[in-house]
Amino acid sequence: MANLVNSFSIKARDFAKAGENSLQIQSLLKSIGFEPELIRRISICAYEAEMNAVMHGGDGELLVTVDPKNIVLEVSDDGPGIKDVKLALREGYSTATPEHREMGFGAGMGLPNINKNADSLAIDSSDGRGTRLRIKFKVGDG
Ligand SMILES: Nc1ncnc2c1ncn2[C@@H]1O[C@H](COP(=O)(O)OP(=O)(O)O)[C@@H](O)[C@H]1O
Ligand SMILES: [Mg+2]
Repeated sequence: MANLVNSFSIKARDFAKAGENSLQIQSLLKSIGFEPELIRRISICAYEAEMNAVMHGGDGELLVTVDPKNIVLEVSDDGPGIKDVKLALREGYSTATPEHREMGFGAGMGLPNINKNADSLAIDSSDGRGTRLRIKFKVGDG
């Protein structure tokens, strides 16, 4: 199977469209025929990463690469970046605003859930330089 690459754009603060990319990725993976459990894990990660870019980050891109052994999500944005990645990965840590919380966000479980559901997670971010997540899933025996 040749590698399949799909890219989607993310618009900061666009809460009306937020989450749509993740849904498209979910149906793409369904149409390829991956196992529901794997699709569930990937969808959670795509959604959390997309919402984080919309809420905390900046404009960006969601890239999905499918090869015979892996599915990789690369989510990047040109926002303010994450000052302390280790702290951001802690359950319950959130800098969500009161407005975010009114919309039901800000539980501080997004990055921990990505970490839990992915086979590997790499976060590349420094203060003021944007954020890039590389989230990897093994397919089959990978
Ligand atoms: N793309 C991003 N750009 C800037 N900061 C981010 C980004 N993603 C996550 N963060 C920071 O990490 C924190 C934890 O993220 P997360 O676990 O998803 O919780 P929540 O989104 O509920 O705040 C956020 O509150 C924010 O401070
Ligand atoms: Mg979040």
